[in-house]
Amino acid sequence: MFETESEVLAWYERQPRALTREFIDSIPWREVPDHALNPAFIPVLFYMRDVEYFTDIYHKEMLRTPTGKDPVILKFMDRWSVEELQHAELLNRFLAEADLPTGEKWQDEARAKIPWRYTIENYFMDWFTRPFGRHFHGVHMVWGAINEITTLQGYRRLADLAGHPILKTLLTAIMQEESIHSNFYWSIARLKLNQAKFSRDLARFIVGKFWTPVGQGAKPEHETNYVMAALFRGSSGLDHFRRTVSNRIEGLPGFDGFQAITERVAPILQAP
Ligand SMILES: [Fe+2]
Ligand SMILES: [Fe+2]
Repeated sequence: MFETESEVLAWYERQPRALTREFIDSIPWREVPDHALNPAFIPVLFYMRDVEYFTDIYHKEMLRTPTGKDPVILKFMDRWSVEELQHAELLNRFLAEADLPTGEKWQDEARAKIPWRYTIENYFMDWFTRPFGRHFHGVHMVWGAINEITTLQGYRRLADLAGHPILKTLLTAIMQEESIHSNFYWSIARLKLNQAKFSRDLARFIVGKFWTPVGQGAKPEHETNYVMAALFRGSSGLDHFRRTVSNRIEGLPGFDGFQAITERVAPILQAP
């Protein structure tokens, strides 16, 4: 366990990239079409690609908030946002190699579909968080931890369920980076929440009331629900989510017995 936020940052900066140029060049991209890809997971790949890409928008939003001005978080986000964008590019490359329709302008197309409501809500969210100052850092970090852990576990399920060996190779490397991101957010969240009871109460309240699965808002709810159900369907999927995502969040200060995120996804995963 880390004692200070600077230690967490130093740890993060010591982690080597999994997606090095040599690794990317070693992927047998040309063999991608030789393997079958379960069509149920094609929309999942497009969704993941776009949500990875939207990190760029989220990063810019965060820089405007007090959390984004925190020196440790600011430094982390410089590298983190580059890694997430690369995940988007690599998923796009996989889709293109699999002969699935990805145009030159896929970023513009994905961005154009973001509803106005999402942009406006984010603008007001910034104003809403300001009075809470540093107490809101914990909310952002818990939120980030849940999203990173969900993404990591989502990729794990996708790698297993899609049954495509080259996709699995790519996702395994992406997962290593998501695991590092998860650990960063979780560790900073723990330290921020330990600072004050008010931060813990605020984080538990806000996350419990407003959390939705990663990507929802920028993407329509029915797409998010499709992705969550494709990856974590049924009681075994729900159990996986509870064990790997929810239990990890319950280990944060002030989150003992916190069931809200499992309760939020349960009806989606158990729908017939
Ligand atoms: Fe990512
Ligand atoms: Fe990540």
